[in-house]
Amino acid sequence: RPARDIHSDPHSPFVVAHRGASDEEPEHTLSAYRRAIEDGADALECDVRLTADGHLVCVHDRRVNRTSNGRGAVSSLELSDLATLDFGSWKGQAADAELPDRDSTSVLTLERLLELVADAGRPIGLAIETKHPTRWAGQVEDRLLALLRRFGLDGGPPGGDGPAPVRVMSFSARSLHRVHAGAPALPTVYLMQFISPRHRDGRLPAGVGIAGPSVRIVRNHPGYIARLHRAGHRVHVWTVNEPEDVDLCVRLGVEAIITNRPKQVLSQLGRR
Ligand code: G3P
Ligand code: CA
Repeated sequence: RPARDIHSDPHSPFVVAHRGASDEEPEHTLSAYRRAIEDGADALECDVRLTADGHLVCVHDRRVNRTSNGRGAVSSLELSDLATLDFGSWKGQAADAELPDRDSTSVLTLERLLELVADAGRPIGLAIETKHPTRWAGQVEDRLLALLRRFGLDGGPPGGDGPAPVRVMSFSARSLHRVHAGAPALPTVYLMQFISPRHRDGRLPAGVGIAGPSVRIVRNHPGYIARLHRAGHRVHVWTVNEPEDVDLCVRLGVEAIITNRPKQVLSQLGRR
């Protein structure tokens, strides 16, 4: 079996807040991440995309239409355009002038998220997903590594007295290769929506230590988790929101659960 992740209890998986506490707060906003930290999440998941003027922002979709009151692709908007948008009201949260902290629902830069984590007062991990870096081939990873380096988060041994661990995740093996080449000590997670024939034996692309299967894979092919473990990989499962799936993940000994509901999952695990 591979070594456990930074969380020390061998019977309890690491709990990662997917897009923040996104069941309760608008995803990828400061309010969602603050809530996840308050709720006791071990780590925060975020998706990153590059704006037209080269800033990494935490937005899931290619376009901002679903999660803001604006329209258009992130890659064709500048950070100053995004800063005028409201990323909170779509979720039924009032992102109006009466809010004491307007920035809690405005676009979140990765830099701001790193500052939040640095100021959290306890170690918080980060699981940063590079979204299919098409238009900006290579630039997303290069800027990400430069930013992580600036915060001293570009690798090193997990746990101990060092900074809280960061992992870079992607569905793109090419993206992870680039990350691995630039920062060999930074753990990478290969996300899987289905089991491709190439990885049926449990082995992942070179340099990747952690497998990121969907919860559907875990439900339909629980034996695959043992295969990944036997191949020496840790397993981080997404997106695990239902209690029976949490139970299944615990039974299978997965190392991390990525969930929109960190509070409920922690409570189910007896950690709250
Ligand atoms: O944590 C991995 C998961 O977030 C991948 O899917 O579409 O939610 O980014 P998606
Ligand atoms: Ca994601």
